[in-house]
Amino acid sequence: MRNNTDRPLILGIETSCDDTAVALVAGGKTVLSNLVASQVDFHNRFGGVVPEIASRQHLEALAPLIEEALLKAGKRKEDLEAIAVTYGPGLVGALLVGVAAAKSLAYGLEIPLIPVNHIIAHIYAGFLAHKNLSFPLMALVVSGGHSSLIYMEKEGRVKVVGKTKDDAAGEAFDKIARALNLGYPGGPVIDKLAAEGNSQAIHFPRAYMGKEHRFDFSFSGLKSAVLNHINSSRQRGEELNIPDIAAGFQEAVIEVLVNKAMAATKEYNVSNLVLAGGVGANKGLRKLLYRESEANKINVFVPPVDLCTDNAVMVAAAAFPLYRRGVQASLDLNAVPGLSPEESY
Ligand code: KG4
Ligand code: ZN
Repeated sequence: MRNNTDRPLILGIETSCDDTAVALVAGGKTVLSNLVASQVDFHNRFGGVVPEIASRQHLEALAPLIEEALLKAGKRKEDLEAIAVTYGPGLVGALLVGVAAAKSLAYGLEIPLIPVNHIIAHIYAGFLAHKNLSFPLMALVVSGGHSSLIYMEKEGRVKVVGKTKDDAAGEAFDKIARALNLGYPGGPVIDKLAAEGNSQAIHFPRAYMGKEHRFDFSFSGLKSAVLNHINSSRQRGEELNIPDIAAGFQEAVIEVLVNKAMAATKEYNVSNLVLAGGVGANKGLRKLLYRESEANKINVFVPPVDLCTDNAVMVAAAAFPLYRRGVQASLDLNAVPGLSPEESY
């Protein structure tokens, strides 16, 4: 007999950007397999994600990855009870690969197809990693595509409190890394270099913006300031101190992220703050967030790095409450590249 906590067995599929990911999660919490095929090597030489390459790579990687995930978990397709898939936001061609695969599996197996919002899925990584996390919560979701502060009063009740007016935080890391010829993705390498540099050596601007935008972000001014510094130093024939640039840039980003997250938790009177998304892997950000949360008496929930970056465990975990509520998509589900967190189920 199967234990109730083992059910349902959900297969999660994630193809919104440049990671093909598949996972099997039982009962919303037990991870039976978690596979990620990174496409970094295919995009690296272009300095960023090339959408056409992403779609093609997802097409090649997805079917074998699903087989492998089942094999690792010791399960057969017939054991699956639902298919969860990211249908937005993300790159339309990339999303479509996952959505099409999920639809055909759900149709063939006659099981529910559960539509998952990628940003909400990132927040659910917090629930997977921390059994004591509960609603209401504030989430700081920072990735290559998004930087948002999201208030979740309870399951299914989502409010975007603030978002970026221009570049996403991860995008800023990637663009600065590209200008410094550090490769793609830029976050991990800048993070590493920043630890070796002096963050006080070069002062870069922080964008707090006016009162009406006090929970919004803007990184384009900072990006221009760093690029100006790089270009004018090169013109003067000065040698660039890359660790100092990385440290100064990173501090300007994380200081704003953490201060705004603290202000938003106060404004909404919540004591639980979740860090989510690829930039959440940043060591400097994690450290500052722990320090400020302690000072402000906020419980901070920081998932391990592999749950911060794109994965399918979070997709299956986010689908679990939807499954319980009977939410499912029809087989005409489409990819929605600009899907807002508030539009999710
Ligand atoms: O969540 P994610 O894996 O994919 C998106 O949904 O975008 O985030 C990827 C982003 C990239 O921009 C990458 O440079 C950034 O997360 N990132 C980091 C770190 N690790 C990944 N940014 C700062 N520090 C890191 N350690
Ligand atoms: Zn993501």
